[in-house]
Amino acid sequence: MTDTEHRPIRTFHPRRGRMSARHADVHAALWPRFGLTVEDGDRAPLDLAELFGRAAPVVLEIGFGMGETTAAMAAADPARDYLGVEVHTPGIARLLELIKDQGLPNVRVVRADAMELVHKIAPGSLDAVHVFFPDPWPKARHHKRRLIRPGNVALLRDRLRPGGLLHCATDWPHYAAAMAETLDADPGLRCVNDDSDGSQDRARDDRAGRPETKFERRGRAAGRPITDLRYRRAA
Ligand SMILES: C[S@@+](CC[C@H](N)C(=O)[O-])C[C@H]1O[C@@H](n2cnc3c(N)ncnc32)[C@H](O)[C@@H]1O
Repeated sequence: MTDTEHRPIRTFHPRRGRMSARHADVHAALWPRFGLTVEDGDRAPLDLAELFGRAAPVVLEIGFGMGETTAAMAAADPARDYLGVEVHTPGIARLLELIKDQGLPNVRVVRADAMELVHKIAPGSLDAVHVFFPDPWPKARHHKRRLIRPGNVALLRDRLRPGGLLHCATDWPHYAAAMAETLDADPGLRCVNDDSDGSQDRARDDRAGRPETKFERRGRAAGRPITDLRYRRAA
């Protein structure tokens, strides 16, 4: 593959994370069963039922960081399968460790640029997409690196089933405003932040049902307000 054929705009800082010896052992033992690597440009369709060993609703979490939120949500929600995607090696090893420690059969860990993975997922096949505290890229010249931008949102919406949920959260007010503008502008999404229809995703607390994340804690400690934005794919 040459650069001109395929050169994605990266939404992440290249970080050279090192695994501890313990995490390296966990990784070696669990990766064959729970892990999947997606190379840039690989568009071969991904069979989610085969990956999880059953046909259940699938939640995609993009940029799970150290994986605590993914593990907590998957443990509390055994009827759905959780597909977590990250590029940060220590976080990948940590989520594998949580899978082992908590005995979570409904989590799979993908090492990939999330949007490369999304291209491999069939349209209409996700129950929900979680994007919790994506890198804010605050400088104007870096806004093109933000994950929540129109082309990516259109692709994520296409992969949701009709009625499926796109749940984003951020602690950066400027990004929150840009996210809301982008999500509102998508013709196939409907904001459900104020829904009181008793659906299972209705806000159970101020985080709309999700546990606190590591970057959320950092944002709160720095005095930044937290914004949750929830949209459903139009039926
Ligand atoms: C600011 S951290 C938030 C982590 C976690 N969600 C939390 O709230 O604590 C953003 C994470 O997204 C990951 N990330 C950014 N762009 C990504 C991409 N295109 N594919 C996969 N992971 C990505 C980064 O590696 C980083 O770990």
